[in-house]
Amino acid sequence: MKKIIFSPTVKTLYFLTGLIFVISFSTVSRARADQKIDPVKLSLYPPAKQRTFKALSDQSKECIQCHTGITPGIVSDWQQSWHAKENIGCYECHKSNDKGAPGAFEHNGFIIHVVVSPKDCSACHQSETKEFEESRHAVARQFIAGMPGLEVTRENTLFATMGDKITIRGCQACHGTVVKINKDGTPSPETWPNQGIGRINPDGSFGSCTTCHTRHRFSIEEARKPEVCGNCHIGPDHPQYEIYMESKHGNIYATRGANWDWKAPAGKWNILKTGVAPVCVTCHMDAGLPDMKTTHNLSSNLSWTLQAPLTYHYTDWQAKQEKMQEVCYHCHSTIWTQNYFKQADTTLEVYENRYYKPVFDMKQKLVSEGKWAKTPFSTPVQFKFFEYWHHEGRRARFGAFMQGPDYELWHGFYELELNKIELMQQMEEMEKKK
Ligand code: HEC
Ligand code: HEC
Ligand code: HEC
Ligand code: HEC
Ligand code: HEC
Ligand code: HEC
Ligand code: HEC
Ligand code: HEC
Repeated sequence: MKKIIFSPTVKTLYFLTGLIFVISFSTVSRARADQKIDPVKLSLYPPAKQRTFKALSDQSKECIQCHTGITPGIVSDWQQSWHAKENIGCYECHKSNDKGAPGAFEHNGFIIHVVVSPKDCSACHQSETKEFEESRHAVARQFIAGMPGLEVTRENTLFATMGDKITIRGCQACHGTVVKINKDGTPSPETWPNQGIGRINPDGSFGSCTTCHTRHRFSIEEARKPEVCGNCHIGPDHPQYEIYMESKHGNIYATRGANWDWKAPAGKWNILKTGVAPVCVTCHMDAGLPDMKTTHNLSSNLSWTLQAPLTYHYTDWQAKQEKMQEVCYHCHSTIWTQNYFKQADTTLEVYENRYYKPVFDMKQKLVSEGKWAKTPFSTPVQFKFFEYWHHEGRRARFGAFMQGPDYELWHGFYELELNKIELMQQMEEMEKKK
């Protein structure tokens, strides 16, 4: 059957995805409170006058001379990178662009900074940085700390309950810290090292490109593989990596992936020639498909926000869903793809009406009667309710949308069924008490 390929309206989408930062949340109140997030302030340097060089700068030569003995691992990694081929050395990235910039310090006669941020990369990689900053990845830090107006009933409260000493190597390792600078210009131990995806940098920019392209190789091969996403998209509450690996797509990747052309330059990578199964970045970055333009905005193909207690649509969700389906049409028919999305949508209705709403309404009743503890995360039933939507509730929905039947059912809806009974019993007991 003929596959319909929608012509990509990529430009419009970039613009529209900029608007997604007006996001609504469903937290405690059933009526969803619309919570605004400040639009990301783009913090790019103007395009560099020179991106490639005929020879290594004298400054970089000095760094390398000394650092070959001091940090040989860094030097050898850099030597194998594309940057080395184009003579972009240590100094080109680590020099301080702004005089007196936060994080700049004196180092063997040079003024350098160690926290090289997306803003530094932006001088030579404008479009990637801009797209990254427009994605929800860039604001990941702001979610854990809580935002003005965001009701503190979700993970945010857990963050405060557990405290910085624990979360620095936990929540903040994935989401990012607010990097603070000591008086001497070096980063403070309470906030760095950190490579969180939404880290707030001393220069005001967001995120860290090394979450997917680790320093100093800055490889695209590494960034293309699902394992890189599995650094964070894993575990009881967002097992996208495990779900992918158990899907048919993941099975094919595990079986034939070793022979795929991972090293192809961006723009020339064509999974249809060698792969014939999508990886995460095919569906979420449009990468590896010759007629689609890769984007660093990982939010641009999502119609639902499945991680919320109650699922809701993003703004302009139809266009985003069409772009996701456009990916599928490269390998599946229209009827296959559209029926699949209908099946997944149906599970959301069941989640809402059979599982979330009755339990939530009962919980609200206890809240209104003053029988639900006021301090968050202070009684077992509060943890159980949190896990109900945050663990099994998410797994059921993610499993349905990303072809992980074991997660949809046994780690998802089955656990919802059981825990609904247990939660209702517990709450009915609480209700009876005076
Ligand atoms: C004379 C030797 C020498 C030269 C030249 C030199 N470095 Fe270093 N660098 C060091 C030493 C020693 C350390 C500390 C390593 C450690 O703590 O284990 C260091 C650490 C660093 C750090 C980590 C921050 C810190 O203070 O621990 C960065 C980033 C760095 N160097 C970049 C550069 C760059 C960029 C250049 C060239 C512009 C350069 N270095 C030139 C010796 C040198
Ligand atoms: C393409 C840009 C780029 C180039 C080129 C580059 N660096 Fe880096 N460097 C980074 C980034 C990004 C980080 C991670 C900083 C952070 O934590 O945000 C980093 C971190 C470091 C660190 C601290 C990391 C650690 O594990 O202790 C040192 C030291 C360092 N670089 C030295 C060098 C040296 C020496 C060279 C040249 C051989 C070099 N860098 C070339 C971007 C670059
Ligand atoms: C001075 C300019 C310059 C800076 C600063 C710079 N790059 Fe690059 N980068 C290049 C050039 C030139 C290439 C070669 C490909 C090209 O022309 O785009 C490249 C290639 C790359 C690639 C593709 C590598 C591959 O294997 O295909 C990645 C990924 C990358 N850079 C990431 C970064 C990141 C992340 C930073 C900031 C930490 C950064 N770059 C800073 C100039 C720069
Ligand atoms: C260092 C941790 C980290 C890595 C690595 C990472 N992510 Fe994420 N990702 C996050 C966090 C944290 C969020 C939640 C951000 C938020 O909602 O603000 C997220 C959100 C997302 C979203 C949802 C965006 C939205 O608009 O709701 C997608 C899709 C996504 N990531 C895909 C990927 C893919 C694909 C990879 C690998 C190529 C990847 N991520 C690598 C931490 C990471
Ligand atoms: C292993 C990495 C990791 C750790 C540790 C982690 N998170 Fe997350 N978090 C993620 C990812 C990935 C997502 C995106 C889930 C999705 O969109 O499906 C996420 C989503 C979130 C969201 C929802 C963001 C939104 O867009 O609404 C919040 C809030 C959050 N995490 C807070 C926390 C807090 C607080 C902690 C610590 C108590 C924590 N996280 C620990 C990776 C992590
Ligand atoms: C979520 C993972 C992820 C993050 C975070 C990320 N990248 Fe990438 N990047 C990729 C993937 C995957 C590719 C390969 C895309 C393709 O094959 O079309 C890529 C490709 C690139 C390329 C090569 C593009 C080309 O046309 O040659 C550059 C340059 C780059 N990234 C820079 C950056 C910069 C700068 C940042 C930080 C602002 C960043 N990346 C953050 C996943 C990521
Ligand atoms: C075959 C395509 C496909 C592949 C491969 C894929 N995903 Fe997805 N992903 C989807 C679809 C479809 C959705 C739901 C889209 C929507 O909201 O309409 C989704 C949703 C997500 C979300 C958002 C969940 C939320 O809270 O709304 C994250 C995060 C995510 N995927 C991460 C990943 C990661 C990480 C990988 C690889 C380990 C991956 N995906 C592989 C298709 C894919
Ligand atoms: C690059 C090619 C390719 C792309 C893109 C792709 N798939 Fe697949 N998909 C396959 C192959 C190959 C199979 C295995 C078919 C079989 O079982 O014989 C498969 C299997 C499936 C299955 C059957 C397994 C199951 O769990 O029921 C579903 C459903 C599916 N894909 C949905 C999607 C959706 C939805 C998208 C887009 C978001 C998508 N695929 C994108 C190649 C692709």
